[in-house]
Amino acid sequence: MSDAFKRQAAQAAMSEVRSGMRIGLGTGSTAKHFVDLLGAEVAKGFECLCVPTSEETAKQALSLGIPLTSLDDIDALDVTIDGADEIDRGFRLIKGGGGALLREKIVAAASARMVVIADNSKLVETLGQFPLPVEVNPFGFAATRRAVGNVMEAFGAQGGLSLRQRGGETFTTDGGHYILDASFGRISDAEAVSRALLDIPGVVQHGLFLDLCREAYLAAPDGVIRLSEQQA
Ligand code: 5RP
Repeated sequence: MSDAFKRQAAQAAMSEVRSGMRIGLGTGSTAKHFVDLLGAEVAKGFECLCVPTSEETAKQALSLGIPLTSLDDIDALDVTIDGADEIDRGFRLIKGGGGALLREKIVAAASARMVVIADNSKLVETLGQFPLPVEVNPFGFAATRRAVGNVMEAFGAQGGLSLRQRGGETFTTDGGHYILDASFGRISDAEAVSRALLDIPGVVQHGLFLDLCREAYLAAPDGVIRLSEQQA
């Protein structure tokens, strides 16, 4: 899907922010457009205090002069604007394609609202076509991998499980963890899969975002649509 659609979704979501807000900044190519647009407003005098969801986003925001803080220094955020790998009509998400799911979930949970921006190819009937990122502690990795595989089997996963690589090396998150990409194919009971994965001691977090997002801006060839739970 074209980068222009991502930019349009990001542009539309600018209507969600007001001067003086505390804003969570997502990670990924769509969130990057939002940070760019926000940076342009900050240059014109827009005031905000932002918490980035990755080192990559922090670097971009700082280069644009966007003031940053952390969740240790403020107690809540007004809104978080972030991308997604999949979103269904119940506003359940798969995130973590960019490997930032842990910080993204912590920041979204500390926000009064989470707004997703994406091109409309991310809207799905049922989650699971996109491999579910599962962030795991390197300690006891083989045992954790087996346990995640057992959960996949129990929930009828149609694909495999792979350790994420980047540039020929094991990908490591900002928190120093690994990511297992779990190809379920179809996740019909996301809440049960979430609970089963979080029951595994070596699992730090997973990319199912349930009950966190209630609004989305999705860009399509004929314009951007705003979905909200009130309309659903
Ligand atoms: C990063 C994420 C991203 O928001 C997700 O992968 C979507 O990325 P993009 O906007 O590049 O399609 O969850 O961890």
